Amino acid sequence: MLFRQLFDRESCTYTYLLADPWLKDAVIIDPVREQLPRDLELLRELGLRLRYTLDTHVHADHVTGAGLLRAHTGAQTVVSRDAGADADVLVGDGDMVSFGRQALEVRATPGHTAGCLTYVTHDRVRAFTGDALFVRGCGRTDFQGGDARRLYRSIHDKVFSLPDECLLYPGHDYKGRTVTTVWEERTYNPRLGGGRSEDQMVAIMAALRLDRPAKMDEAVPANVRCGVQAGDPSPERMEAPWAPVTRSPTGAPEITAEWLAEHGAGLTVVDVREPEELTGELGQLPGVISAPLGGLSSAAQGWSRAAPLVVVCRSGGRSAEAAMRLERMGFGEVASLAGGMVAWRALERRRG
Ligand SMILES: [Fe+2]
Repeated sequence: MLFRQLFDRESCTYTYLLADPWLKDAVIIDPVREQLPRDLELLRELGLRLRYTLDTHVHADHVTGAGLLRAHTGAQTVVSRDAGADADVLVGDGDMVSFGRQALEVRATPGHTAGCLTYVTHDRVRAFTGDALFVRGCGRTDFQGGDARRLYRSIHDKVFSLPDECLLYPGHDYKGRTVTTVWEERTYNPRLGGGRSEDQMVAIMAALRLDRPAKMDEAVPANVRCGVQAGDPSPERMEAPWAPVTRSPTGAPEITAEWLAEHGAGLTVVDVREPEELTGELGQLPGVISAPLGGLSSAAQGWSRAAPLVVVCRSGGRSAEAAMRLERMGFGEVASLAGGMVAWRALERRRG
């Protein structure tokens, strides 16, 4: 997993970039509007496709960059269905957000706001707690549907139940700290850990006298619309995918023989079998480029990365490997023919 922790000095907000380093699919958690150039530059440098922006909640202290990132990259915006916000994808407890071969589990952790979420990597190595839990602290509970009792239960049920060594990444820090662990917070958090009871937590939160966030009147109305403001560029229309590509259990992009039969005219097809196989009983598709798997990487150096590629072999094993290899080389639109020439000939027989 590719992982970066980014920081906005003005609002002391942490933004997180996660990506599948092989398939190049990425998500960003809690982007800050003013940091759009930084985030776009990083995505471009690392060659990543942004699939989703995830907001842990409707923020009151900064405007989210989700709407602008959508306008520039086509990434879908994700928030809790309890946040009362408008987004492309509304999620709730137990949902999964997938990107490449990685996924985040959604855990509902209300209490700072009614729609707060914690995102947990599927290996449970990292969790992103937003403002529900900070390093040795937690978000305030005095507005936006906040409820100290609810927050206490959220953290104990949904965060402290993670493995002791699970790394917890907060939505903010004001003292230069970057990360903590489940064990540390359960042991040392002065509001929620160290054996504090629910009633003690409620009393601690009630005694806080906090100023209203300076940006609240601007940030909350903007954030229920994913941070979109008047005059923003209109969303880049998501281009229709070139083919209905699915992923095999090993992560290879695949298309079916049926789809290729209907839509294959004009597509570049690469056959990765050995030359002698092309003249065997299964034959070959018309107009294929022959590039045996062993020499594929050097053969592909000269191919255009702008045009879609379909990769074929005998039964789909070698072409699946080839398609993943081509993706790693930067071919964005590539798929293996599922079942290979065997499936192709079977389709022909069925269709007479
Ligand atoms: Fe917040």
